[in-house]
Amino acid sequence: MTKSKQVFLNGSYLPVENANISVMDRGFLFGDGIYEVIPVYHGCLFRFDEHLERLENSLKLTRIDNPYSRDEWRDIMLPLIDATKDQYIYFQVTRGAAEKRDHAFPVGVKPTVFMMCNDIAPFNGKEDGVKAISLDDNRWSACNIKAIALLGNILLRQQAVENDCAEAILVREGYITEGSASNVFAVIDGILITPPKSNFILAGITRDVILELAAANNIPYAEDIISLDALKTASEIWFASSTREILPVVELDGRPVANGRVGQFWHTMNDLLQTYKTTYAAGGK
Ligand SMILES: Cc1ncc(COP(=O)(O)O)c(C=O)c1O
Repeated sequence: MTKSKQVFLNGSYLPVENANISVMDRGFLFGDGIYEVIPVYHGCLFRFDEHLERLENSLKLTRIDNPYSRDEWRDIMLPLIDATKDQYIYFQVTRGAAEKRDHAFPVGVKPTVFMMCNDIAPFNGKEDGVKAISLDDNRWSACNIKAIALLGNILLRQQAVENDCAEAILVREGYITEGSASNVFAVIDGILITPPKSNFILAGITRDVILELAAANNIPYAEDIISLDALKTASEIWFASSTREILPVVELDGRPVANGRVGQFWHTMNDLLQTYKTTYAAGGK
């Protein structure tokens, strides 16, 4: 018999099928909560502090109490991890279950904390590149909060999938913001460019790693606005996220990106990232 998956819910570890929350939970009723995703490479929590910093920021901006210290968060994660493989920790904090449904914050309610660990499935098409579609970024203007309310992102991703694309490139007033669940990079005139951090994008941890690696390896880079017109002249386009890492785009809106093949910048950066991950994990952080 296969052992059922263990998850963490409100202070206890239990089989996933026994992990239940109240229908009055504000995460369920309103999407009133935030989340984080941390890759775990052979037992090593990748960039744990950076992910926790972003979690703390999301909690502060949503005014949800942080139930645990960083050390306590780490201690909760460890028993869920299988160190023989690459996985990711998913965890979310909602404002909790109130007695009645009311938009305003309930008083005296404890946040709900849920955590699970899943395997990172290799993403098909990473070496060959993927197709992307540009779509109007119709989400709200607090995208810097890693909110569980992802209806906007979901509808955009679904539109991409229905157009045979792996991801959407979101455009606000003519300028690129990010992907539906990723940040966007482009190589234009030999410079690696990504839109600057703002309230219109989620500040990706992978994005920061890529910029650090570019700086350390003399790859010319800039954090700058990118118009959709400029993106269409790019020699390379990538998506970046914790679970898909760096995903090269070879077709945008039905037209090939440059010669329609994965570019040299991607190969260089992907190699740097793989080496960095290995070195990081060996450091046992
Ligand atoms: C909207 C959005 N932007 C960017 C990212 C990339 O963030 P990270 O690199 O921390 O995974 C994600 C990841 O889920 C995301 O959902």
